[in-house]
Amino acid sequence: MSSPNSIFVRACKGLPTDSTPVWFMRQAGRYMSEYREVRKHHSLIEICKKPALAAEVTITAAEALGVDAAIIFADLLLPLEVMGLPFHFSASEGPVIEKPIRSAEDFKVLTTNGAPELRYVSEAIAACVKHWGSKLPVIGFCGAPFTLASYMIEGGGSRNYIEVKKLMYNQPQLWDELLRKLNVVLAAYVADQVKAGADVIQVFDSWVGCLSVEDYRKYVLPRTRELIAAVKQTGVPVIYFGTDSTTLLPSMNETAADVIGLDWRVPLDEGWKLLNHRPAVQGNLDPVLLFAEWDEVKQRARNILDLADNRPGHIFNLGHGILPKTPVENVKKLASFVQEYSAQRRQAVAGTR
Ligand code: CP3
Repeated sequence: MSSPNSIFVRACKGLPTDSTPVWFMRQAGRYMSEYREVRKHHSLIEICKKPALAAEVTITAAEALGVDAAIIFADLLLPLEVMGLPFHFSASEGPVIEKPIRSAEDFKVLTTNGAPELRYVSEAIAACVKHWGSKLPVIGFCGAPFTLASYMIEGGGSRNYIEVKKLMYNQPQLWDELLRKLNVVLAAYVADQVKAGADVIQVFDSWVGCLSVEDYRKYVLPRTRELIAAVKQTGVPVIYFGTDSTTLLPSMNETAADVIGLDWRVPLDEGWKLLNHRPAVQGNLDPVLLFAEWDEVKQRARNILDLADNRPGHIFNLGHGILPKTPVENVKKLASFVQEYSAQRRQAVAGTR
């Protein structure tokens, strides 16, 4: 841990802060000209695998935006490669897993001792920590077992998750074994990130919203709870993020994550109430709002902060990652608006005491 007293880490623990910390998922990405410039010379995977470059991309984005935390530049799918499933990015289709897992036979290629091969990610974290010291907290991350398994089985993104659900329903033992194997690798991977100085770990369950509550509870919650318990063992707070997940929130809360991500489909106060205000929450502006005129963005951000109502444990973010072509100016203005308006709101309350 490099920044245990930062407002971001304090908010993750549900402690009071003088302003609401703000950062953005995908804050380093194609919407930013500095990133596009680096991408002219290096592929996405090359950036991930060169710690100096990954650190540079992370640092440039966080400093340009003036946010309160930096997520390490990496990709969710990197652990697949060290488990024996190579993948590449196709310009038209996004990630493509070359030999998806569909049967007990395919499953045999999977290994669970490869986490040390991902050390380039911890090295990039260490380089960011060296650059910032205690000035800015660094977020490490990994995929949740469901979302990573969905890529392994579908072979890429999916609309209806038919192959994943088929395997889950028809071969429940194989499914559970797959999640267990993922957890072995992921627990070791995030432990290395924390050793390198990550202050918080975010677990991305981006596609969990395709599940019914019944299926989530039966096929996904037990192993997710195990992974989150393992991450908490490292001593840093854990953010558990999903999208389209309003109906799943009470069950997601049973993972005991310190922070739960809310997407924009639920008003922040209602989402928090569904969690009984037990964990901190992160969110939840619609990423597409950043394409609107600044006045509209500002009004909607103000509304989210008003709904949080100065309750400790709110981290401002979007409900999902920043999209390509997002106007950078709006993102910068949003970060400083959140910092200023939330500080004013805290002072106003302090003044009436
Ligand atoms: O700034 C940050 O948020 C850190 C970097 C980061 C990337 N990927 C870099 C990246 C993070 C946190 C991720 C996580 C990730 N990767 C997720 C979970 C987050 C989410 O959005 O739900 C997922 C599902 C992936 C898998 C993945 N990687 C997809 C679906 C894509 C998009 C493919 C496309 O062409 O749009 C990627 C590519 C990717 N990973 C980019 C970036 C910046 C796109 C830009 C590029 O090609 O350089």
